[in-house]
Amino acid sequence: MHPVTNALLAWYDRCARTLPWRNIHDPYRTWVSEAMLQQTRVETVLSYYERFLVRFPSLQALAEADEPEVLKMWEGLGYYSRARNLWQGARKVMAEYGGSLPADVALLRTLPGVGPYMAGAIASIAFNIPVPAVDGNVIRVISRLDNIRENASTPSVRRLIEQKAASLVPANRPGDHNQAMMDLGAGICVPGTPDCDRCPVSAFCLSHREGDPATLPVLPGARPPKVIPWTVLVIRSETGILLRRRTEKLLQGLWCFPMLEGHLSESEVIPAVRKQFHITPFAIRSAGSARHVFTHQVWQMNIFVLEVSPDSEVPSGYMFVSLDDMEKIALPAAMNAARRAI
Ligand code: ADE
Repeated sequence: MHPVTNALLAWYDRCARTLPWRNIHDPYRTWVSEAMLQQTRVETVLSYYERFLVRFPSLQALAEADEPEVLKMWEGLGYYSRARNLWQGARKVMAEYGGSLPADVALLRTLPGVGPYMAGAIASIAFNIPVPAVDGNVIRVISRLDNIRENASTPSVRRLIEQKAASLVPANRPGDHNQAMMDLGAGICVPGTPDCDRCPVSAFCLSHREGDPATLPVLPGARPPKVIPWTVLVIRSETGILLRRRTEKLLQGLWCFPMLEGHLSESEVIPAVRKQFHITPFAIRSAGSARHVFTHQVWQMNIFVLEVSPDSEVPSGYMFVSLDDMEKIALPAAMNAARRAI
């Protein structure tokens, strides 16, 4: 066993976080946890994970659900394509593998949403297959261990990092090793301010010895997200609130309030609503502003609440949804501030 692996596993045995998806023997649950943990912090995932599995306790139960209900259980967690992929993947596993996830990296890769990282994570954690699971945390840890000062987003450096990651995976306990890498990257070998004093592998870390681990990995050209101004409209009548189910790639399938591009002043809103939605509000109030950060964009939203008559025309693609029915459909967290304005 590589000395780094040895030290890392010894540390994991002492310090591993106790998490509900550890020490279980159900590949379906491992898959759910990894889908939720991709791009999302452990603390956020904890409550969603339990709730999701109460509602969908087996792969079959998930496959038999309908898509809106799966999205509802994912509401607020973000990156909703993960939920859709999990659901479609469960249906595929029912249809093609008799309901059991295949214990094979290449076959796992054929499932929707399962990329190299997730296939490696599921294979190692659920099936004890000795393969790495390389995510952003592991790229950071390996870049620092080997003091890799070249651009880590190029394919050749990426391959180098993957080879190194693979060389560390032990034949026994590959899942524990990969999760130890994740814990190290999440709690100690963090971006910007690594805590090398507490690191179990600092004795083997070239950047700790020679350089400046805080500056690694080198990832030039990461563009800052684009700020987009919106005017969000909570348009309500006695029959409900006007909503639209999004068809755009971002937040696809989730329900949002009508939105106008740009920041409109209060006096500009009613004429714009009349023009765009053919509805004439009889009252308006400002409900403040909110920000929501996505990976590649930031929504800067000014919110208005508008009252309209119940016989108003319903614009094409929109629906008046009652407050009761709003509880049953999935609104993204980006709409939380506007929802609170109701
Ligand atoms: N991030 C991704 N997968 C994880 C896991 N299994 N445990 C902790 N953090 C993770």
